[in-house]
Amino acid sequence: MGADARQYDLVVWGATGFAGRLTAAYLTEQYRPETLSLALGGRDPNRLASVAADLTDESEAWEAIPTVVGDATEPESLQEIARSTRVVCTTVGPYTRYGTPLVAACVEAGTDYCDLTGEVNWIREMIDRYHEAAVDAGTRIVHSCGFDSVPADIGTLLAQSYALEAFDAPCETVRISVDDASGGVSGGTLASMAAVFEAASNDPLARETLRNPYSLAPAGERDGVDTGGDRLPRHDSTRSVWTAPSPMAQVNERVVRRSNALLGYPWGREFRCTEVVATGSGLRGAAGATLLAGGLGLFTAAMSVGPARRAVRRFLFPAPGEGPSTEQIENGHFTVSVHGRGTARDGSFSVVAEFGTDLDPGYGAAARMLGESAVCLVRGHVDSPLDGGVLTPASGIGAPLVDRLRDAGFTATARTVEAPSTAAGADAK
Ligand SMILES: NC(=O)c1ccc[n+]([C@@H]2O[C@H](COP(=O)([O-])OP(=O)(O)OC[C@H]3O[C@@H](n4cnc5c(N)ncnc54)[C@H](OP(=O)(O)O)[C@@H]3O)[C@@H](O)[C@H]2O)c1
Repeated sequence: MGADARQYDLVVWGATGFAGRLTAAYLTEQYRPETLSLALGGRDPNRLASVAADLTDESEAWEAIPTVVGDATEPESLQEIARSTRVVCTTVGPYTRYGTPLVAACVEAGTDYCDLTGEVNWIREMIDRYHEAAVDAGTRIVHSCGFDSVPADIGTLLAQSYALEAFDAPCETVRISVDDASGGVSGGTLASMAAVFEAASNDPLARETLRNPYSLAPAGERDGVDTGGDRLPRHDSTRSVWTAPSPMAQVNERVVRRSNALLGYPWGREFRCTEVVATGSGLRGAAGATLLAGGLGLFTAAMSVGPARRAVRRFLFPAPGEGPSTEQIENGHFTVSVHGRGTARDGSFSVVAEFGTDLDPGYGAAARMLGESAVCLVRGHVDSPLDGGVLTPASGIGAPLVDRLRDAGFTATARTVEAPSTAAGADAK
């Protein structure tokens, strides 16, 4: 069937869950049925009908929203969904547990796909199993279109594109810094985090994926000079701030390295990236970095041991389906800055890209990042040399996602911090 003959432009699979409902609500607020043929997907027809009814009640434009039923345990139901639409975006997680049959169905049906996964072990599995088939089918499977890893990956693309344009040279290093973030966390996200730890304790490939900084690079290219993230608190003297290791570094850094590799190494084979959390200056910054690094170490240690992991999940994690309040989402915000350094003909330079918005990162902002990634795929608004494969936001969609997110209220800027003596870098939007 030709893509144009399909019944829907986009199915949001997982619309009854916390992140899926927010994504569906964003899309019905932002788009009209005449311009986006949308359907909601899930496993329970009654709950789906109730979400569709709530969204139509909240909307003036949408009088009805179609629903499609598909269960991860019934692959044929997902094949049917994949054949009915041009694009699927999915929030059904943990992806390690539920995600594979939909990727398989999309590759088979030639249906573009995007998700919110931060489960690095599962991304590696999808690369190994489906990248070649997705290349052959010309199908874009774009993982990590939420807070993991759009700010890091698209922020790096922004900094690198700016450096290449202003100085005719890429940044050899980028330091991705979560400068400011306020929001909440859902039961589904914590269950997905637990799924990564569980995979690491049972599956040697998952352990290798977490150990090797290049584990998401294409086969045959899984080594290089970059040793990966900071493990300890550190004083960043160029910015006069303290930094701690970032809990998202294990996925975001690997996604950024995969982008560089898939794009054909425009940032060089010796490109290095690190992601950290900035905790401020002076004694408070130092204390914050020490506390954050210690807390992350303790959490990792507890989650790595089966009985402790089960106890943490049982007593500390909210149930799947639960998440931050509307107030927390609307009062949240985040800024991620990407600090790049490179060498041009006339000397060294540094640039910074900033990416953020006034919504909580994991839900209000993630719903927009995923929704706009999906709309880029529906409209063919992509700037990428690749027609298909298991891709990243920067390599699979690229600059058009920045433009759409700016229109959706995000800040996305890049500028020169230090220019070589004869180069003139101007501020860029
Ligand atoms: N990267 C980011 O920025 C970001 C942000 C938010 C979330 N996430 C990720 O997104 C995922 C969802 O998070 P969430 O908080 O929305 O979780 P959630 O509320 O638990 O939602 C999970 C969804 O999966 C559905 N589901 C479960 N088992 C299924 C099956 N067998 N077949 C079909 N559907 C099934 C659930 O359906 P029912 O409603 O019928 O139970 C629900 O719709 C997680 O992996 C999380 O880590 C990532």
